[in-house]
Amino acid sequence: MTDTLVSFRDIREMVVGINQKVPLLDGSLRTYINFDNAASTPALGAVSDKVNAFLEWYSSVHRGTGFKSQISTRSFDQAREIVSDFVGANSDEHVVIFGKNTTEAINKLAFRLPLKPDDVVLVSMMEHHSNDLPWRARAQVEHIKVDRLGQLDVADFEEKLARLAGRVKLVAISGASNVTGFLADIHDLAVKAHQAGAQILVDCAQLAPHRQVDMLPLSDPAHFDYISISAHKMYAPYGTGALIGRRDTFEQGEPEYRGGGTIEVVTPETVDWAAPPDRDEAGSPNVVGAVALAVAIKQMQAVGMEAIAAHEAELTSYALEKMLQIPNLEIYGNTDPEHARAGKRLGVIPFNVIGMSHFKVAAILSAEYAIGVRNGCFCAHPYLLHLMGMTAGKAEQVRQDILANNRSEMPGLVRVSFGIYNTTEEIDVLIEALKNIVAGHYKGEYIQDTVSGEYEVVGWNFDPDQYFSL
Ligand SMILES: Cc1ncc(COP(=O)(O)O)c(C=O)c1O
Repeated sequence: MTDTLVSFRDIREMVVGINQKVPLLDGSLRTYINFDNAASTPALGAVSDKVNAFLEWYSSVHRGTGFKSQISTRSFDQAREIVSDFVGANSDEHVVIFGKNTTEAINKLAFRLPLKPDDVVLVSMMEHHSNDLPWRARAQVEHIKVDRLGQLDVADFEEKLARLAGRVKLVAISGASNVTGFLADIHDLAVKAHQAGAQILVDCAQLAPHRQVDMLPLSDPAHFDYISISAHKMYAPYGTGALIGRRDTFEQGEPEYRGGGTIEVVTPETVDWAAPPDRDEAGSPNVVGAVALAVAIKQMQAVGMEAIAAHEAELTSYALEKMLQIPNLEIYGNTDPEHARAGKRLGVIPFNVIGMSHFKVAAILSAEYAIGVRNGCFCAHPYLLHLMGMTAGKAEQVRQDILANNRSEMPGLVRVSFGIYNTTEEIDVLIEALKNIVAGHYKGEYIQDTVSGEYEVVGWNFDPDQYFSL
């Protein structure tokens, strides 16, 4: 295990709910295993402790003059600096705009950039819908191809940049895929985008929890013009995220939302807008969320981003090695354990049990093993259809079925995704479970709801109020 300031065992013990037991189909209780970190991570205890301590001092920010307001305002400003430093931004050139999450951040940028309908935004086939759909509303979107394993086709990127020269205003690309864990060579893409006169947004929703992100100064051709992050994927699920980007971009134009906080001065006839970030943070901000994100960042830094990457690389190669030995398990993306061990991808592994619905596999893992995974299309429909080799005809059939409220044949995968606190022992439980499932050994009777596609377990009744209620 890599030497770190805070050991992985310590971090694990810090995870809120890490020892939580959940009911199984056979009536027993078992400690929950969370392999759904790509969707959302649990909170770290250090985060919730600090948030609770902060609440003692919580009051309105910026406009309040009371002592607590001064403490809160200072904490909010410090949180902004911590986020800025974490991603290698500098306040002369960049601005950190707090918002709800990555989806909001990208929509905010799509609103702010002065795009015309025939301008081109280059996204890739691997994008999460949140880094595709906002651009479709503002410009002509072209999708960079990916190969059979879901890896970016750099030659296609270069070809599109050259063919659409002058029209490509933005390259909007994921730093890491939420489906295959693929890591693009984002600084290389940045150099090429800038050479072609375009700017680049790197969606760091998946990357920032697992790798050091460095935006670099604007003078560096490999810099990122904009990035987005989501705190709920970084051990701070308190409803915040951030768009970090070029200050000069946010000095232009009117706010997306108008109201309190966005102005310098208002008369009945005139409005003078505030400088960034205030112009883009309308209304009372989520101060608690910003504090939580800053604390989570400090915790991740205490562990060390390199140590986090090394730990997760070990988990991923371990899982792949074991999963590859299971017959009838189809794993998508790059399945080479050595590639994973070298840290060339994230710990996100999509797979299917051949002959069994992904909905059903996920249901069995939950009901019989207390393992939480994600299944479906992971908000990346075009990528999933490509990975699964679906023909256009079949894709259209699926679309018609879904629109007719029938998801019984909905294509999809099961995804396990690791975080800093997961262990090889937990992976062993998963492997045991998968071996049993592929062999057809499971205890429950599972019935599909054709509208949602999900499987219910016959006779499994538990009272949720017994575990948590409001
Ligand atoms: C790569 C990527 N981009 C964007 C998002 C959207 O993030 P959020 O739901 O926090 O807005 C996600 C969420 O899974 C993601 O994985």
